[in-house]
Amino acid sequence: MAKEEDLSSCNSFIVKLSIITIIFSFTIFMLFDENLVQGTSSPEGAVDFLLPEMELEVKIGSIGSTEECDLFKGQWVSNPLGPSYTNNTCNFIDDTSNCLKNGRPDTGYLYWKWKPYDCELPPLDADKFMKSMRDKSWAFIGDSILRNQMQSLTCILSKVEEPVETYHDETSKSRTFYFPSHNFTLATIWAPFLVKYRENDNIANSIRNKEFQVYLDTLEEKWTQSYHKYDYIVIASGQWYLKSIILWEDGKIVGCHNCAEKSIKEIGVEHPYRRSLKTAFNFITSSDHKPLVFFRTWMPDHFEYGEWFSGGICNRTRPYKEGEYNGKEFDQVMRDVEVDEFAKVVEVASERGTHIKLLDTFHLSLLRPDGHPGPYRHYPPSDTNKTAKIQNDCLHSCLPGPIDTWNDLTMKIMVDGGAIKSSSHMFVI
Ligand SMILES: *[C@@H]1O[C@H](CO)[C@@H](O)[C@H](O)[C@H]1NC(C)=O
Ligand SMILES: *[C@@H]1O[C@H](CO)[C@@H](O)[C@H](O)[C@H]1NC(C)=O
Ligand SMILES: *[C@@H]1O[C@H](CO)[C@@H](O)[C@H](O)[C@H]1NC(C)=O
Ligand SMILES: *[C@@H]1O[C@H](CO)[C@@H](O)[C@H](O)[C@H]1NC(C)=O
Repeated sequence: MAKEEDLSSCNSFIVKLSIITIIFSFTIFMLFDENLVQGTSSPEGAVDFLLPEMELEVKIGSIGSTEECDLFKGQWVSNPLGPSYTNNTCNFIDDTSNCLKNGRPDTGYLYWKWKPYDCELPPLDADKFMKSMRDKSWAFIGDSILRNQMQSLTCILSKVEEPVETYHDETSKSRTFYFPSHNFTLATIWAPFLVKYRENDNIANSIRNKEFQVYLDTLEEKWTQSYHKYDYIVIASGQWYLKSIILWEDGKIVGCHNCAEKSIKEIGVEHPYRRSLKTAFNFITSSDHKPLVFFRTWMPDHFEYGEWFSGGICNRTRPYKEGEYNGKEFDQVMRDVEVDEFAKVVEVASERGTHIKLLDTFHLSLLRPDGHPGPYRHYPPSDTNKTAKIQNDCLHSCLPGPIDTWNDLTMKIMVDGGAIKSSSHMFVI
C-alpha cells in the first residue's frame, strides 16, 4: 500500500498505465495461453482409405444432412438428463475449465441441450463413435478453444475407454491421446494463428505488450507437416488475431494491429484473418491427402461490464432466447469473413476431392453466456478473493458445458453424411 501511494504521488499516470498493462498482459497470458512452444503429434503412420461415392461437400445452410434440417438453427431447451460426464468421471479436464471442481455454485448451465428446429440432436454415442474410429486418427488444429473441444471429446469417449497420453509438448499445448483397444488417436495441435508466427523478443520495456510477427502467406509447419497423418481434422482460428500483431505478406510488413510501432499502418483484423484463412484453405484443397475436415466458426465471448482486459465478467446463469442477444458487431464481422471464405472453398472442394464441412457453432454458442468458467477458472475462484486480480474467462467453455454440443454436432454430421454407419461397425469415409 505504502509503495503504491508513493508511486502514485510521483506520477499517477505511469502507475495507472503500468497497472493496466500488467492486468492486460496477465489476462492475455491466462486466457490465451501464449507460448511459442508447439509440437507435433506422431500417431501411427498415415492411412489410406476408400472414398465413398457420396456428396460430402456442403452448402451453407444445408449441412449435408439427408433430412431437411439445418443443425445450426434451433434453440437451447431444458435437458434434465444433464451431461454425459462430470468432473468425477473424467480425468482429462484442465483445471482452467473444471468449473465444478473450482467451486462454481450454480449448476443450471449443465441442464440444456441444443434442439435444431427441424430435427433432434442426440448426444454423441461414445460406443458407436469409438467403434467407427478403429485404426483412425483425429486432430484438432488451432488455439486453446480447440483444446477445450478436444478435452470435451476425450471426456465423452473416456466412458468407453480411458486413453493414454502418448505425447505432449513442454507446455501441453499440443497433446496426443491414444485409445489402445480401438487403436484410435486424438490429438490437439497448437497453431493459434494457423499461419506462421514469431513472438517479438526485442521488447523495449516491461510495460509494452508482447507483439507477434504473423506471416499471412505461410502456414505454421506444426500442423502442415503432420496433416497427412490424420483422417479427421477440426480446424479453426480466431481470438489471437486480436493481439498486438505485425503482419507480413510476400516478405514485407503490410500493416499491424494494436501495435506499439506507430509508423506501421493499423489495418485492423478483417484483412489479416481473411488472408490467413485463404492460406489455410488453399493448403487443404491442394493437399493430396484428403481427410474429412470440419471448419469451425468464430467463438463469441460474453464479457459484460468490461472487456477481457478491463475487468469484464460473465455471471449469467441461463442461455439467451433467440433474439435476446445478437452479439457484438465485431463477432458477426469475423464470422462473416469465415462463412465467406468457406463458401469459396466449397466451390473448389468437390472438383479437387476435398471433404470439408462447416461446423457453424457461432450462433448456438452466442446464446450461451452461462457456460464460461468466469471466475471459476481456478481454485479458489477469484470472486471469493477480493484482493486477487480479476481474471474472468468468458471465452472458453466449462467442462462439462456447452462445448460438448460441438462434438454432438460433429457426430450427427458424420452419421447423416454416412461417415458413421448407424447399423454396423463399417466405416466408409
Ligand atoms: C468435483 O466437483 C465437486 C464439486 O461440485 C467436488 O466436491 C469434487 O471434489 C470434484 N471432484 C474432483 C475429482 O475434482
Ligand atoms: C493402428 O492403426 C494404424 C492406422 O492408423 C495402422 O497402420 C496400424 O496397423 C494399426 N495398428 C494395429 C495394431 O492394428
Ligand atoms: C451480474 O453482475 C452485475 C454487475 O455486478 C449485477 O448487476 C447482476 O445482478 C449480476 N447478475 C447475476 C445473475 O448475478
Ligand atoms: C488472494 O489473492 C492474493 C493476491 O493474488 C493472494 O496473495 C492471496 O494468497 C489470495 N488469498 C487466498 C485465500 O487465496
